[in-house]
Amino acid sequence: MSRLDFDFYESEDPVWNPALLTIPVPGIRKMVNLAATMDDVIHLSIGQPDAPAPPHVIQAGVDALQAGQTGYTMDAGLPELLDALAEYNGERYGRTISPENILVTTGATEAIYLALSAVSAPGREFIVADPSFMLYAPLIRMHGGEVRYVPTRVENNHQLDPQEVIDAIDSNTHAIILNSPSNPTGTVYPRETVETIVQEAAYRGIYVISDEVYDHLVYDNRDYASVLSCCSDLDHVMIISSFSKTFSMAGMRIGWLIASQGAIKKLRRYHMFTTTVANTPCQWAGVAALKGPRAFIDDIQENYKKRRNRLVQLVEQTPHLEGYMPEGAFYLFPSLPEGVNGNNVALRMLRETGVCTIAGDTFGESCRNALRFSYATSIENIERAFERIIPWMERQDFG
Ligand SMILES: Cc1ncc(COP(=O)(O)O)c(C=O)c1O
Repeated sequence: MSRLDFDFYESEDPVWNPALLTIPVPGIRKMVNLAATMDDVIHLSIGQPDAPAPPHVIQAGVDALQAGQTGYTMDAGLPELLDALAEYNGERYGRTISPENILVTTGATEAIYLALSAVSAPGREFIVADPSFMLYAPLIRMHGGEVRYVPTRVENNHQLDPQEVIDAIDSNTHAIILNSPSNPTGTVYPRETVETIVQEAAYRGIYVISDEVYDHLVYDNRDYASVLSCCSDLDHVMIISSFSKTFSMAGMRIGWLIASQGAIKKLRRYHMFTTTVANTPCQWAGVAALKGPRAFIDDIQENYKKRRNRLVQLVEQTPHLEGYMPEGAFYLFPSLPEGVNGNNVALRMLRETGVCTIAGDTFGESCRNALRFSYATSIENIERAFERIIPWMERQDFG
């Protein structure tokens, strides 16, 4: 598999659009593919919940299939799902959202693809936190846009400094990408940060594209500042989320994008030329997820919080790793000493201890000495992993 990746990306065969060269060989695939050839691997690499979707959600998908719901829906999405999303987001964020403000997509991934490729063009600059989820920069560059990174730092819990974002805005800035809680850092931006950025962007006529797929995975009773609750209107914002993380529905592939009605009309046309519509029975499962009991989300939060606390403790006990307390998602992104190549460390650690993590350079340029640990796995697995990692790190000499 990694051999195929190499052939594909390095090939000089003229059939391929050179724009595809902006897509890196995915660091996650590289590690997971290597791990698949090994025995007794403990994964701290996984970016999806370790529990299945709730039974009522699965049942709704099965019922939809059995009722013959196997055709296309309306292009914007199943009307029942659009209504449910409008109500759910309107209630959660205290504003009126109409179904015409929403587009249902094939996971948040399609929404990100549509949003970025619809607005990226040569000469346009996009402000992106470094590190950030690996889709943003390649999609911007694939369509000719340029990425202006604003680095975040481990000693500051990877918080995004709103003033650094504002200072990075210039006459070519077209949009700011936000992702709170963040993959790979787990950082949740406080309301002041989101409000300051959203207000400045609106004032300057710049779009804010906000990826909020971890919006429910926020711990310690922290306030969650969705862009939807920080903007005065939807004119310059696109808010993206999905059922993947909160409802353990990653494989069911249903996400959504909320924006002005004008933006949704344009994106609907584009959506018809990419995926046509999202998966119909899984849209019905999405309706059940929003209309059914949601108390299990509290249990999930409590469970992730315990795992996070244990992981943070274990990282504190590990030589050469500098951690912090992430407030959301299910990731921690500790640093190795300055100048150490995280890629080499992740590979050697996998080969020599059987623990699979993801190297920092998968997520940007300023964090090559970091490793991403996912705690979407049991405390027992996390503890077993560190029984191997700590003695291994004790033997390393990065001097
Ligand atoms: C920040 C972020 N955005 C989007 C996605 C993709 O979500 P979906 O499964 O809904 O396409 C992920 C998945 O890991 C993610 O971490």
